[in-house]
Amino acid sequence: MSVGERDPFTGHQTTGHEWNGIKELNTPVPKPVYFFLITFGAFALAWTLLMPSWPYGSGYFKGLLGVDQKQAVAKSIAEATAERADWMTRIDKEDLAQIQSDADLMRIVREDGRTLFGDNCAACHGANAKGNKGFPNIAQAPMLWGDEPQTVLQTVTVGINGTDPNTRVSQMLAFGREGTLTQAQVSLLAGFVKSLADPAAVTDNSKEDIAKGKDLFATNCVACHGNDAKGLVESGAPNLTDDYWIHGGSRDDIYQTIYSGRQGHMPSWGARLTPAQIKIITLYLLELRKQGAEPTAGGAS
Ligand code: HEC
Ligand code: HEC
Repeated sequence: MSVGERDPFTGHQTTGHEWNGIKELNTPVPKPVYFFLITFGAFALAWTLLMPSWPYGSGYFKGLLGVDQKQAVAKSIAEATAERADWMTRIDKEDLAQIQSDADLMRIVREDGRTLFGDNCAACHGANAKGNKGFPNIAQAPMLWGDEPQTVLQTVTVGINGTDPNTRVSQMLAFGREGTLTQAQVSLLAGFVKSLADPAAVTDNSKEDIAKGKDLFATNCVACHGNDAKGLVESGAPNLTDDYWIHGGSRDDIYQTIYSGRQGHMPSWGARLTPAQIKIITLYLLELRKQGAEPTAGGAS
């Protein structure tokens, strides 16, 4: 078993290593291994030359192709920002109807509007805009101050009983607490108002009281709520004949409203948001209203 011995079965020489009678053949390295080594080496070399690779002192070799992921990201962010700035300028300049008729701008309105509404309005009006006690359902209920797009934009900008010098101002007077009416009269009025939205409240027993309440309403309430009690936009007084209640629609709630009065505060958003943001929120809200406009029995109460 010296070096140079030939294996009789395969014809290969042996290496001279032997373990327990098993001898190692001296076979050549298979050709595919060279193939892999060469292709791998060529690829690695080409890659380090083309792509950012070797670090040196203060930097790194940038590669012949000039590929730079950081720059690529920065570029696409810059492009997106420029595109947004462009959209924002258009939202800023164009009037509501123009924006409404532009599908691209309305896509921005829907995306941004949802976020802006969530950040600024949902705390009081609820995430779905359907209101909470003391805060109206602005997705469905008739608007106190009118529902023309430009009017809603104005309401949101100046607020209601807000801090803007042009704020909309309204107040439901405290008829009971201030002694304008007796408790008994307030109670008759509550019965009448309740019967407006809820015909089931009219029974043989309550008919007479409801008629008395109606007379009291005609003398004390129509100036703001209108002869038909359907509300007047000029005074920001709500419709009392539908199923939407800001302050609750139970007889007790209504009694409380008439006895103690109410004055909701809607912030003046003109001081807190940009005109473009207010446009976006208003248009977003108008879209919500289009989708959810059917009155639902029982509404917010
Ligand atoms: C601090 C609570 C509060 C926040 C926050 C708030 N609102 Fe209001 N909002 C009110 C109240 C209260 C009223 C009803 C006032 C009343 O009863 O007279 C109201 C009424 C409204 C109305 C109805 C106007 C009408 O004519 O009927 C709209 C529209 C409205 N809010 C939009 C918004 C938008 C948009 C935002 C967010 C930018 C917002 N609100 C944020 C409290 C709030
Ligand atoms: C000076 C105008 C004014 C007069 C007069 C007035 N109201 Fe009101 N009323 C309002 C306003 C404004 C509101 C909305 C208050 C708010 O939400 O901030 C309101 C709200 C109400 C509500 C609550 C509606 C809801 O959605 O919760 C009831 C009920 C009501 N009024 C009944 C009456 C009755 C009954 C009288 C007569 C005794 C009367 N009002 C007289 C202005 C008036």
